[in-house]
Amino acid sequence: MIMKEYKIALIKGDGIGPEVVDGAVKVMDAVSRKKGFTLKYTECLAGGCSIDRYGIPLTDETLNICKNSDAILLGAVGGPKWDNVDASIRPEKALLGLRKELGLYSNLRPALMYKALSDACPIKGLDSMDVLIVRELTGGIYFGRRGRTENGAFDTEEYSDYEIRRIVREGFRYAMGRSKRLTVVDKANVLETSRLWREIVANESGNFSEVSVEFLYIDNATMQLIGRPQSFDVIVTSNMFGDILSDEAGQITGSVGMLPSASLGDPGKPGMYEPVHGSAPDIAGKGIANPLATILSCAMMFKWSLGEDEAAQMINSAVDTVLEAGLRTADIYKGEGRLVTTEEMTSAVIEAL
Ligand code: IPM
Ligand code: MG
Repeated sequence: MIMKEYKIALIKGDGIGPEVVDGAVKVMDAVSRKKGFTLKYTECLAGGCSIDRYGIPLTDETLNICKNSDAILLGAVGGPKWDNVDASIRPEKALLGLRKELGLYSNLRPALMYKALSDACPIKGLDSMDVLIVRELTGGIYFGRRGRTENGAFDTEEYSDYEIRRIVREGFRYAMGRSKRLTVVDKANVLETSRLWREIVANESGNFSEVSVEFLYIDNATMQLIGRPQSFDVIVTSNMFGDILSDEAGQITGSVGMLPSASLGDPGKPGMYEPVHGSAPDIAGKGIANPLATILSCAMMFKWSLGEDEAAQMINSAVDTVLEAGLRTADIYKGEGRLVTTEEMTSAVIEAL
C-alpha cells in the first residue's frame, strides 16, 4: 500500500516561533504515524530572520516553496530587533505578502474557551464561549492605496463586489455547519464599503435562508462581545475589523496562547496555519512558551487542508486531556495545576494521543 504523503512548508520565523513549531512538528509526526500518512517538511525563512539573511522579509524562494506545498505552518514573525528597519521591509510584510501572494482571503479564527481554563476568563461568571471569526484577509485598508501627501498621509479601505461576496459566502457556509447564526460586523453608518457589504449579505442570504443574520457596527460589536459572548456564533467581517475583534475574542477566552488560526484560499490551494499570538521576544529561547496554539493550528491544517479529520480530532482531544489533567505553561498558570515547559507540554500531548 502506498502511504499518503503531504508536503508541509515550515516557517518557524522569529522569537518563540521556532520553539512552538518544533513542538508542533513532534505532535504532527506522532499523529501521522498513528494514522498512516507521512509528512514531508521543507523549512524556509520569513520575517526578521529573512531580513537578517537576505535583506528582505520574504524571498521568492520561500514563496515558491509555500506555493508548492499542501499546507504551510508558520510560528511567528517580528520583534524589537527589526522595529527600526524601513517600513517597506518590516517583518510583518512577510505575513502580508504570503497572504496576498497565496490568495489566502479567508481567515478563520476560532475563539473557544476551554472549561479547564475558564478561571482565566476576565469576565465574571462566564464559563463558555465558542465563536468563529471569519476575517477577510487580502483586501480592505491593509492593501488599499496609501501614501504621504505634502502635509499628511492616507490609507484607503477598498473592496470589490467579488471580494466581499466570496468572504460573505464563507461566513454563511461556516454558519450552516454550526448553529446557523451569522453576525456581520461593519461600520455602515459611515463607510461606503460597509454599505456594499450589507447589500451583498442581503443578496446572499437568499441562498442561505436557514441562517439568521444580525448586523452590528464595529463599535457596538466590541461591547456586545464582552456583554453577551455566548450569543455569538460566526462573525464575518473585513480585514481591519477582524484583526481587532479577534484579539478581543481571544482575550475573553482568557488565553491568547491557546488560539489557532487558518488562512485559506480557493479549494485545492495551500492553506497557511499559525498561532494567533505573536513572537513574544521577552520569553523567546527560554523553553517556556505555550505550544498549544500551534499544535491546535496543526489540527486545523489536518482538517481544512489535508482532509484528515480524524487526525485533527485526535489532536483536539489530546489537548483537552492535558488541560483537564492540569498541565499549564506559564501563560495559563494561575497557581493551580502543574507548571510545565514547552517540551513537557508537547510530550504530554503526544502521550495523550
Ligand atoms: C494578525 C496580526 C497582523 C495583522 C500583523 C502582524 C500585520 O496582528 O495576524 O492579526 O494585522 O493582520
Ligand atoms: Mg492582529
